[in-house]
Amino acid sequence: MRWFHWINVLSVISLIFVGLIMLYKKELGITSLEAKIGLKELHVVIGYIFATNLLIRLFFAFTGPASARFSAFIPGKGFLQSLKSYLASLKAGKPQQFIGHNPLGKLAVTTLFTLLFILLFSGLIRAGTDIYYPPFGSTVSGYIAADGTDPSSLLPYKNEGVNKEKMASLKAFKSPIGKIHLYTAYFLMFLIVIHITAVVRAEVKEDDHLISSLFSGKKIVTEKPQDESAYYKS
Ligand code: HEM
Repeated sequence: MRWFHWINVLSVISLIFVGLIMLYKKELGITSLEAKIGLKELHVVIGYIFATNLLIRLFFAFTGPASARFSAFIPGKGFLQSLKSYLASLKAGKPQQFIGHNPLGKLAVTTLFTLLFILLFSGLIRAGTDIYYPPFGSTVSGYIAADGTDPSSLLPYKNEGVNKEKMASLKAFKSPIGKIHLYTAYFLMFLIVIHITAVVRAEVKEDDHLISSLFSGKKIVTEKPQDESAYYKS
């Protein structure tokens, strides 16, 4: 799962980086249509790497080892109780230790995954509606092509061969999806800052070498972990 984590980190950072350039292109002096489309294509190609990695991770959530399964990060039965008891242990200055995610970590990971999936689906839809890229691009161009026009001849941001009414309804559909994509990206950036602060804090204060485990695959616990039974059958 460490591979997943680092490919995810790198692709998300690159997507945010290119996404921010797209948002501030005017301020950066990027004005030509070619450059605008080029940035979108670059963002979408990185998006495919991100999407493939995320879908592989989803596959392991169904079939992988205990630490990769949904149960390792989705809050389940008894979650509120374990959250309360973890928060109390934090307050008391003696944090409970876990082989997997602590209850706060579970909340963070579930929220992060939800945001990533929203970005994935809204991004793929915008890739189809903006530049006719897969997987929805051919359906979109087939829908907006004027009668007698070959859909594959349509070019992004060019109106030749396009049915105007259908284009207007496509715009009405894609605009809210773009807003969802943008605001989810903002929320993700905000959570990433909180997430990094929390794991650095856990590494320093809880002595569980969480960050080192992302590199080594080994988590060090100095006391009996709360979730031992989920990993080791006695
Ligand atoms: C962590 C994942 C992602 C983040 C943080 C992200 C971030 C962003 C940001 C900040 C923008 C600029 C919004 C704007 O110009 O209004 C954007 C636009 C866009 N993204 Fe993403 N994105 C992600 C994933 C994806 C994926 C997976 C795809 C598709 C494969 C994708 C496709 C697009 C497209 C087509 C646009 C242009 C939309 C427009 O011009 O309004 N994105 N993204």
